[in-house]
Amino acid sequence: GKKGFIFDLDGVIVDTAGFHYLAWRNLADELGFEFTEEQNERFKGVSRVRSLEILLEIGGVKATEEQKEGWLVSKNEEYLSYIAKMTENDILPGVLKVLTYLKEKNIPMALGSASKNAQPILKRIGLFDLFDCIVDGNHVEKAKPDPEVFTLGAEELEIEYTDAIVFEDSIAGIQAANGVDMVSVGIGDAKVLHEADYNFNDFTEIDTAFLDKLINA
Ligand code: BG6
Ligand code: MG
Repeated sequence: GKKGFIFDLDGVIVDTAGFHYLAWRNLADELGFEFTEEQNERFKGVSRVRSLEILLEIGGVKATEEQKEGWLVSKNEEYLSYIAKMTENDILPGVLKVLTYLKEKNIPMALGSASKNAQPILKRIGLFDLFDCIVDGNHVEKAKPDPEVFTLGAEELEIEYTDAIVFEDSIAGIQAANGVDMVSVGIGDAKVLHEADYNFNDFTEIDTAFLDKLINA
């Protein structure tokens, strides 16, 4: 059937994964424990609430609901202060070329992100109008590796799940796509994302021949 492309946002289109890490690391610092970049792999693609749970687990910190609520707010405020400075220059290398190529070919495109901040980020980087539909953390109940964010996207694009091609930088996101037999394209370290159908370090490695192959498969 007709193919459609679904893109994760954080760590795929923009390097906000680094901002999330910084904000969580500062909270860990405040609470008196270390939080490494390696541990941060588990946070990619995971919801804000679940991320805090994992962080507190790592630090062995017990907390009240009220404390957790406060940390979620302060983490997000710090994160918002980082994304407030973003511009179209923050779109990762090679991304625009791929998106423009697909757009010119009238390929349906969706955004599939766990973030509740996806829409303001897309507006800041000038890509809000490019996607045929945006599915984000405000629209789904279940976080990746549950495939809900991608199945909703495929439904809105009116394509079969197996005709969806998903670009992801997180293990949880690759597992979400694989779980419903979508084609998964890992962006980042192939050792970390070895479950993906295809791997690239970044979008500069993706050429039109590869895109055509996916479109015509
Ligand atoms: C995902 C990120 O895209 O969004 C996660 O990979 C993040 O790190 C999640 O926790 C939720 O984002 P937000 O912006 O709603 O806190
Ligand atoms: Mg991501």
